[in-house]
Amino acid sequence: MNPPSPLVAEAATGHRPATAADGPGWDPLDAEPGPDAARCLGLYAKLAAGVTVVTARGPDGPLGMTVSAVTSLSARPPLLLACLRNGSRTLTAIRGNGSFAVHLLREEQSGLAARFADPAATAAERFAGAQGRQVLGVPVLSGALAWTVCLLSDVRRYGDHHLVVGRVAAVHVGGGRPLLWHDRRFGTLTGATGGEAG
Ligand SMILES: Cc1cc2nc3c(=O)[nH]c(=O)nc-3n(C[C@H](O)[C@H](O)[C@H](O)COP(=O)(O)O)c2cc1C
Repeated sequence: MNPPSPLVAEAATGHRPATAADGPGWDPLDAEPGPDAARCLGLYAKLAAGVTVVTARGPDGPLGMTVSAVTSLSARPPLLLACLRNGSRTLTAIRGNGSFAVHLLREEQSGLAARFADPAATAAERFAGAQGRQVLGVPVLSGALAWTVCLLSDVRRYGDHHLVVGRVAAVHVGGGRPLLWHDRRFGTLTGATGGEAG
């Protein structure tokens, strides 16, 4: 296979391609560090996402937090992933316990999402008044659009977050419409915008 032309390499990375004058350890990001964190966060804010609450059993009771960085990963085997910030109490509980639940919230549940995101709220305050039960030893909240209980399959750090991969062990799909997060605000679906996807 022919090496990519310098033009293609530049278009793909946004940086000039290495030349013969560059040493073996040459890293384009050293010379041009790229967009700063604030610009990247501006980009991430444009990613429309469903809102979830991730829960786990902690040493002193249930723990949970609001998470929008949740994605389906594989159907065979069934895997999903979530990105949790370093130092999160919920992440510590997931690592300690090896399992967690993900609740996809309904559009009426923005109050619950705000509560589970409040850094000043204790775990008890986050769960106050919420109905729930244990499934496979994990606290599961009632009333979500859908929920799953996952067994921890992989966890690894990437920058200021951890990538958490779970194997889906139990699933419940209820009714309703999803709560969305976009441009740092909660939103709802306003209807279909086009035809069926292929
Ligand atoms: C809509 C919304 C989405 C969020 N998504 C994430 C996320 O994907 N990952 C994350 O680590 N924190 C996310 N957060 C922030 C956490 O919910 C927040 O830091 C929380 O206090 C962490 O709780 P813990 O430290 O008790 O585990 C989100 C907050 C909101 C309001």
